[in-house]
Amino acid sequence: MAGNTNLAYRRMCRDFGAELTTTEMVSAMALRHGDDKTLNYLERDEDKSPDAAQVFGADPEVLAEAAQKVVARGFDVVDLNIGCPVPKITGGGGGSALLQNPDGAAACVAAMSASVDVPVTVKIRAGWSDDNKNAPEFARCMEQAGAQAITVHGRTREQKYTGRADLDLIARVVEAVSIPVIGNGDVVDLESGKRMAETGVAGIAIGRGALGRPWLFEQLHAAFRGEQIPDSPSLATRSQLLLDLGRGVCELYGEHRGMRIMRRLATDFFRGLRGAPAMRKDSNALTSLADLEGLATRIAVQDDSHPDPRDPDA
Ligand SMILES: Cc1cc2nc3c(=O)[nH]c(=O)nc-3n(C[C@H](O)[C@H](O)[C@H](O)COP(=O)(O)O)c2cc1C
Repeated sequence: MAGNTNLAYRRMCRDFGAELTTTEMVSAMALRHGDDKTLNYLERDEDKSPDAAQVFGADPEVLAEAAQKVVARGFDVVDLNIGCPVPKITGGGGGSALLQNPDGAAACVAAMSASVDVPVTVKIRAGWSDDNKNAPEFARCMEQAGAQAITVHGRTREQKYTGRADLDLIARVVEAVSIPVIGNGDVVDLESGKRMAETGVAGIAIGRGALGRPWLFEQLHAAFRGEQIPDSPSLATRSQLLLDLGRGVCELYGEHRGMRIMRRLATDFFRGLRGAPAMRKDSNALTSLADLEGLATRIAVQDDSHPDPRDPDA
């Protein structure tokens, strides 16, 4: 997820049992030009596999080169973004615009698959619009082009992030292809995780539901294995996780840029708590690790004996 899944964040999710993590999407064209900021997004831990890197673009040759660069950095999977709804990306023919161009998307996947030895996977949406939910046919086309797995976000491009993910459509994608299908959209707790599993998917991709709540991975694992579900961590632990994340982000990007990133990421750690509005103000003003320590302390001392009912962990 752009702006979110830096290496420090992915590490934290893995520590809570995420089995496969994916970088923020990176531009294949920027990789061709050796853009430093883009290369920054492709940091990985050598001992943490499998790790996927996601690229976007619409030119098969440029994407094939990008796939090679990603693999040279040690990634085990290269994922092509066919879901991003942002006009800046779709305007160049990439992201969800490829949903309207199955032949072009197939050419991209075929060129990428031919250029590397690791699996090439794709991430798609339900379709472009309600009138054209073409995910099942599109997925078949991706399979034929060489995709080895497919993640389906059950919303259309037109929906962006509104409405609900269409689980029936995800089930139809599962039936349409023989490669593993990973279901995505609106998994935020055990109930929604179970509903997604009922579609028959081989795996579940979680985005927003795990932001600031990485323990969701271990809770879902336990639920699927029929084991006792671990409690959500205390506020003291949540506060420590935020600090660890902040320190990791600063190691990657330095304190100045790191704190800009943390202004967004920190809010996920106090969402739903009673003191959230005041903490949001502090979070927007983060400039140093010392500021973050102050914010983390405020989270740790929140009174969670009367939690806000909107807190999903309440
Ligand atoms: C801030 C933000 C950034 C995102 N960036 C990406 C991205 O880089 N690549 C991608 O495939 N999806 C991206 N997504 C979409 C999510 O991966 C996911 O498909 C979507 O949020 C629905 O799943 P969820 O309900 O589990 O969040 C992003 C979503 C958000 C909210």
